[in-house]
Amino acid sequence: MTRMLRVVFLSSIAFGYRVMSMDLSRTEDLGSTPIFVCSVLEPPEQRSANNLKDVHGFSEPAMINKPVMLISAQPDLDAVPPSDAIHENEWYNQDFDGYRVTEQLLYAKRPLRIICVGAGAAGLQIAYKAERALENIDLQIYEKNNDVGGTWLENRYPGCTCDIPSHSYQFTWARNPNWSHFYSASEEIWQYFKDIAVKYNLEKYVQFKTTVEEAVWDEELGKYHVKILNPAGERITDSCDILISGSGVLNSWKYPDIPGLDLFKGKLMHSAKWDADYDLTDKTVAVIGGGSSAVQIVPNIQPKVKKLTAFLRSPVWITTGFGARYAGPGGTNFEYSEEQLKEFRENPEAHVKYCRDIEGELNKRFTLMHSKGKDQKNSRDLIASIMKDQLGGDPALTARMTPNFALGCRRMTPGSGYLQSLTKENVQPVHRSVVRLTETGVVDEDGTEHEVDVVICATGFDTSFTPHFKLIGRNGADIKEQFGDFPIGYLGVTVRNFPNFFLLIGPNGPASHSSILPILEWYTRYAFQMIEKFQRENIKSFEPKEKAIKDLYNHTHELMKRLVWSSPCRSWFKNGKIHGPVTAIYPGSRLHFFELLKEVRWEDYDLTYKTNNTFQFLGNGYTQTEVSEDGDPVWYFDDPFTKI
Ligand SMILES: Cc1cc2nc3c(=O)[nH]c(=O)nc-3n(C[C@H](O)[C@H](O)[C@H](O)COP(=O)(O)OP(=O)(O)OC[C@H]3O[C@@H](n4cnc5c(N)ncnc54)[C@H](O)[C@@H]3O)c2cc1C
Ligand SMILES: NC(=O)c1ccc[n+]([C@@H]2O[C@H](COP(=O)([O-])OP(=O)(O)OC[C@H]3O[C@@H](n4cnc5c(N)ncnc54)[C@H](OP(=O)(O)O)[C@@H]3O)[C@@H](O)[C@H]2O)c1
Ligand SMILES: *[C@@H]1O[C@H](CO)[C@@H](O)[C@H](O)[C@H]1NC(C)=O
Ligand SMILES: *[C@@H]1O[C@H](CO)[C@@H](O)[C@H](O)[C@H]1NC(C)=O
Ligand SMILES: *[C@@H]1O[C@H](CO)[C@@H](O)[C@H](O)[C@H]1NC(C)=O
Repeated sequence: MTRMLRVVFLSSIAFGYRVMSMDLSRTEDLGSTPIFVCSVLEPPEQRSANNLKDVHGFSEPAMINKPVMLISAQPDLDAVPPSDAIHENEWYNQDFDGYRVTEQLLYAKRPLRIICVGAGAAGLQIAYKAERALENIDLQIYEKNNDVGGTWLENRYPGCTCDIPSHSYQFTWARNPNWSHFYSASEEIWQYFKDIAVKYNLEKYVQFKTTVEEAVWDEELGKYHVKILNPAGERITDSCDILISGSGVLNSWKYPDIPGLDLFKGKLMHSAKWDADYDLTDKTVAVIGGGSSAVQIVPNIQPKVKKLTAFLRSPVWITTGFGARYAGPGGTNFEYSEEQLKEFRENPEAHVKYCRDIEGELNKRFTLMHSKGKDQKNSRDLIASIMKDQLGGDPALTARMTPNFALGCRRMTPGSGYLQSLTKENVQPVHRSVVRLTETGVVDEDGTEHEVDVVICATGFDTSFTPHFKLIGRNGADIKEQFGDFPIGYLGVTVRNFPNFFLLIGPNGPASHSSILPILEWYTRYAFQMIEKFQRENIKSFEPKEKAIKDLYNHTHELMKRLVWSSPCRSWFKNGKIHGPVTAIYPGSRLHFFELLKEVRWEDYDLTYKTNNTFQFLGNGYTQTEVSEDGDPVWYFDDPFTKI
C-alpha cells in the first residue's frame, strides 16, 4: 500500500552536509508527521562539528543507532496526486490557468529528426559532429550525387586546385599528414573527404542519388515536410524538426545567359561539369570567363589546343596563393618531400604546429581588406608589377588586365602560369563580352564571330544563396522570392521567415575568409548550441528577429564602405553586380567571426514553445543528472567558475 507522505528535506547547503540518497521504499512512518531522514556524507568528526543536536533536535548517537532511512533520488510517480485533488492548504485548491506539470526532467533532450541537404564538406562535418555532440537525434542526409564531396567531386577541370594550403583546407578533427602538395588538386581533396566518410562511417547517414525538391514549413506541427526524389525515381515525403541546407553556395553551375547556346554544334562544356573523355588536342577552343576556374583551366589546356580564345571581359587581380609565406618561391605550389611527410606522420606535434602556423598566417589578412590602407596600396603596386612581368611587359595587355578596383574586391585569384599563358602564340585574349553563340562559334560585343570547335564556359555559379531546392517558410514565404538578387540573412546562418532552418553558409558569411572548413565547423557548433536548447526547453520554433536583421544590415553595409569588397568590380560577392550591395561577405575579420559566433545571441531570436507555459521544461523538479545513477551530485564544484 502506498501512503501519501510529506517530505521534509533537511536543508543541506546551509548546514554543510547534503542528501546522499533518497529511497522512498525504505522509509518508515515516524508517527504523525512522516519524514525522510537523509543519510549524510560527511565523516563523523564533521557531523559533530555541525552540531546536529542543536539544529534538528536529535542527537547524533540516536541517529547512528536507530535505523536510518535511505532515500532514493528517483521520482516516485505513484506519490504524485492529481492536480485537482483536494489540498489541505486551501489556497492550493485553485487551478493555474490549466497548466499541468509534466513528469519530465530538467533539460532532458527530446528526440528530434534533422534533415541535412548535401553531403559535401558541410554535410560530412554535421554527420561527424552530430554523432559525437548531440543526443536523441535522428539525422538524415540527402545527396543528389552518387558520392560525397560536393565541390570536389564535381569540379574536375584540368588544373582544378584549391588555393588554400592543404593543411588549412582540412577539418581540425581530421588532420591529414599525407597531403602531397602545399596546394592540393581536386582529386586529392575529394579523396580526403571520401576517406573521412569511410573511416568514421558517415555514409550511413547519407542517402545518395536523392534530390531534395522542396521543403515546406508546417506552422502547426513545427516541422518541415520535405519532398524528395529517390534513386528509384519516386517522389516521397519526409519530415523533420530541423532543416539544414548544406547544398553548396557554389554548387548550381550555370551557363551564361546568352542566346544561341542550343544552336552551337560543337562541344559545349562548363567548368563544373567537365567531360574528361573529350580530347582537346589540336582543337580550337573558346574559354569564356576570367574567374578562378578559367584562371586554372587556361594555362592547363593551352599547351594542348591548336588555338585558344580567352574571353576576359573584366580584369582580375592575379596574385600568389594564400599563405604564401609557407609556400614555394614566389608563393608557388610545391610537393612535400618524403622526409617532410615522414616527419608529419611520425611527429604529430610537429604536424599540428605546422597546421597552426599556416592557419594563423591566413588569419592575418583583414588589414589588407581595407580599401584605403597602406597594405592595400603596397600590395596593389607589388601585384601590378608582378602581373606586368608575367605578361612579358606587354603594355596593351597589362593595361587591359590590371584592375582599377581594390585588390580582393573579386576573389583574389592565384594563377600559376596563367598570365604567361595569355602571351603564348596560340592564345588570343578578347576583352569583350560574349553576346551569342552561333552554330560554329562565338560572337563578341563588337559583332566579331570567332569560329571554334569547343566552347568552355567558366562562367560561375548561381550565387543567389538560395538553397538548391524550393523552400517555403512561415506564412508561405518563398526563399527565392524573398532573397531575389539581394539575399539578406542573420550572421550567414539563419533567415527571417524560415524557422528551424540553418543555411550553411548563408548571405554575408565569411566566404572570402580563407579556408571554409573551420568556418563550417564553427557554424555547426553554433547550430548545435541552438539545437540543444531547442531539445531541452520544449522550443517549437526559432527565427531571427526582424530588428536584429535590420540592425545587422545597417552595420554590415556601413562597415563595408571601407572594405575592398564594396569596391566597384563585378563579382559573385555582389551577386554579379558592379555597383550593388555586398551579399556574400562577412563584415569583419575571420577571428571576429569566430568570436561572435561562439555564443548564440538568443536575444536576436523569436522563440515559440510547444506548450503555452514556457517553463514546462522545468518538469517535475528533478534534473536529469540527479536521477541518473552515474550523475555527479556535486558537478558544480567542478565548474570553471569555482576554480577561479
Ligand atoms: C572550383 C572550386 C574551387 C574552390 N576552391 C576553394 C578554395 O580554394 N578554398 C575554399 O575555402 N573554398 C573553395 N571553394 C568553395 C567550396 O565550394 C567550399 O570550400 C566547400 O567545398 C563547400 O562545401 P559545401 O558542403 O558547403 O558545398 P558543396 O561542396 O557544394 O556540397 C553541396 C552538396 O549538396 C548537394 N546538393 C545540392 N542540392 C541538392 C539537393 N537539392 N538535393 C540533394 N543534394 C543536393 C550537392 O550534390 C553537393 O554534394 C571552391 C569552389 C569551387 C567550385
Ligand atoms: N582555386 C580555387 O580556389 C577556385 C577555383 C575555382 C573556383 N573557385 C571558387 O569558385 C568561385 C567561382 O569561380 P568561377 O571562376 O567558376 O566563376 P566566377 O568567378 O563567377 O567567374 C565567372 C566568369 O565568367 C565571366 N562571364 C560570365 N558571363 C559571361 C559572358 N556572357 N561573357 C563573357 N564572360 C562572362 C565572368 O565575367 P565578369 O567577371 O565580367 O562577370 C567571370 O569572369 C570563385 O570565386 C571561388 O570562390 C575557387
Ligand atoms: C597517411 O599515410 C600513411 C602511410 O601511407 C597511412 O598509414 C595513414 O593512414 C595515412 N593517414 C591518413 C590520415 O590518411
Ligand atoms: C536600418 O535600415 C533600414 C532601412 O533598410 C531602416 O528601415 C531601419 O530603421 C534602420 N535601422 C536602424 C536601427 O537604424
Ligand atoms: C493554450 O492556450 C490556448 C489559448 O489560451 C488554449 O486554447 C489551449 O487549450 C491551451 N493549451 C494547453 C495545453 O493548455
